[in-house]
Amino acid sequence: MDEYKTKEQLIEELAGMRQQIKGLEAAATAQRENKQREMSVVNFIINQIAVLEPHLKQMYYDYKNKMLRKSLKSCGQGCYFHGSITVLYSERLSIGNNVHINDGAFINATGGVTIGDNTHISRNLTLYSYSHNYGGKALPYDNTTIEKPVVIGKNVWIGMGANIIPGVTIGDGAIIGLGTVVTRDIPPLAIVGNQPPRIIKYRDEAHYEALEESGAYGGINGVPIKDKYVIMK
Ligand SMILES: CC(C)(COP(=O)(O)OP(=O)(O)OC[C@H]1O[C@@H](n2cnc3c(N)ncnc32)[C@H](O)[C@@H]1OP(=O)(O)O)[C@@H](O)C(=O)NCCC(=O)NCCS
Repeated sequence: MDEYKTKEQLIEELAGMRQQIKGLEAAATAQRENKQREMSVVNFIINQIAVLEPHLKQMYYDYKNKMLRKSLKSCGQGCYFHGSITVLYSERLSIGNNVHINDGAFINATGGVTIGDNTHISRNLTLYSYSHNYGGKALPYDNTTIEKPVVIGKNVWIGMGANIIPGVTIGDGAIIGLGTVVTRDIPPLAIVGNQPPRIIKYRDEAHYEALEESGAYGGINGVPIKDKYVIMK
């Protein structure tokens, strides 16, 4: 009986298997090449979008800011609006000459806002010129508004991330420090900032040092990197 295969049979079988393996390898290579081709098309498109995106954004903001300028109560010569600027009730905003307003500004001009010549405003200003009426007929406030104009003088420099509440006047030549909340009138030439930070308490030093010593640093949202916190040492 043919319980045992002959040497020739085995060689033949082996050759067949080799052939099969070659076929599988060729198929895998073709699949990999296809995937690479697909990926390079996807990458090309993503790269093109990444290259174009800032230009498209810039074009969009330039157009939007041109429209904004036209909608203002008044706007002097040489004003420069950069990036995303939101002005509500822009017809109540008056701007002098050579005024710069930077990216991320949010100005609500309901109560009227005036900005003098040569005033430069850094990123992320928040300015309001009205409040809700919390003393009226509804909670937390009713549907009436309390308008309080904001006046910013000439030659003022407003640092990054300033907040200006309704009703304040900022004098000529003043400087508003980074992150300042302007809650009252600022005299001319004053340089202002809010109070120094208050230390609330301290971290537990031994706990801190133990984690630092073992190199236990969290990843995104503090999630362990791989399956352990310990990644460096
Ligand atoms: C307000 C500012 C102009 C002051 O600069 P400066 O004259 O060099 O002041 P100093 O760094 O000498 O600081 C003087 C004191 O003011 C404090 N101070 C400075 N800036 C402050 C701010 N923005 N808020 C609160 N306190 C501030 C300092 O802590 C220091 O306090 P101390 O005397 O108790 O130590 C500056 O700190 C600032 O905020 N610049 C704006 C930066 C910005 O937004 N740039 C964007 C590009 S337009």
